[in-house]
Amino acid sequence: MLIKKPEDIRPSEITPRQVYQDRRRFLREMGVATIAGAGLLPVVADAGQKLPGARKSAYRVDDKLTDYKYVTTYNNFYEFGTDKSDPAKHSQNFRSVPWTVAVDGEVKRPARYQIEDLLQKHPIEERVYRLRCVEAWSMVIPWVGFPLADLIKRVEPTSRAKYVEFTTLHDPAQMPGQRPGLLGAGLDWPYIEGLRLDEAMHPLTLLAVGLYGEVLPNQNGAPIRLVVPWKYGFKSIKSIVRIRLVEKQPVSTWMKSSPREYGFYSNVNPAVDHPRWSQAAERRIGEDSLFSPKRKTLPFNGYADQVASLYAGMDLKKFF
Ligand code: MTE
Repeated sequence: MLIKKPEDIRPSEITPRQVYQDRRRFLREMGVATIAGAGLLPVVADAGQKLPGARKSAYRVDDKLTDYKYVTTYNNFYEFGTDKSDPAKHSQNFRSVPWTVAVDGEVKRPARYQIEDLLQKHPIEERVYRLRCVEAWSMVIPWVGFPLADLIKRVEPTSRAKYVEFTTLHDPAQMPGQRPGLLGAGLDWPYIEGLRLDEAMHPLTLLAVGLYGEVLPNQNGAPIRLVVPWKYGFKSIKSIVRIRLVEKQPVSTWMKSSPREYGFYSNVNPAVDHPRWSQAAERRIGEDSLFSPKRKTLPFNGYADQVASLYAGMDLKKFF
């Protein structure tokens, strides 16, 4: 295939700025579902592309929302580097369209879905959740998505399905953090996470496709990521390509990299410190400075009423 360099392109072949701007505006105003239906989805999702049709839901905390600026520039996405500013810088040309998610394993109806299929089948809603990172900071984010349970029910788990394993795209050509080098994070790729089936089926567990009413920015895990608000942020795996129902407890990337520090459950728990630092308090990004008094971290990140019963009778120091 011949790819033209800029100096090979004649001026008459260049689309005038006004025309492509109008085309982009047109695509945005049409809405994602219609665009997909017409086969017009752009190859790279436009940052800021509106995600219409999300109804407000009752799942919202009262805390002040974290500014969009911080939500989209202070990120952990090691596939694009380990610095908080790396994902926003190095994911801009990441191709999240087209995208397929395989849902398979211990299910009666394994399937591969295009994102557009998922959006057509599952009504989306806005949910304001706290996200608590294991690094002792937090944010409050208006996600847009649908419950993971709805997708899992669709594929009909067999009686052997006990856990769910999630996998992020492995594409070192696009993800510099997956290559050796300056941005290399040294993890075992692809990024893997897991949940127990009842955690995955819990109504709080969300598959997010957007935030702040827009398509997910690449740095936040485009085009589809998990959000599990009562667990540390690393459980909320980004840019998912596979959801596999399995019989045995999956081994997540972080458990593999440091089993002493990261357990399978990783529920937010102020009473169980990380071996190298306390989990008792947190800093709210964009609001608290390094010198502000820290906020107390709440058990299960404030969602104890909804989820504590999932762990009745378990020693949460042992199953951290
Ligand atoms: N998913 C993948 N694939 N790679 C990652 O490095 N980082 C996790 C999680 N999901 C990560 C990931 C961590 S540590 C956190 S705190 C959240 O994403 C951060 O999500 P945000 O950048 O959208 O706030």
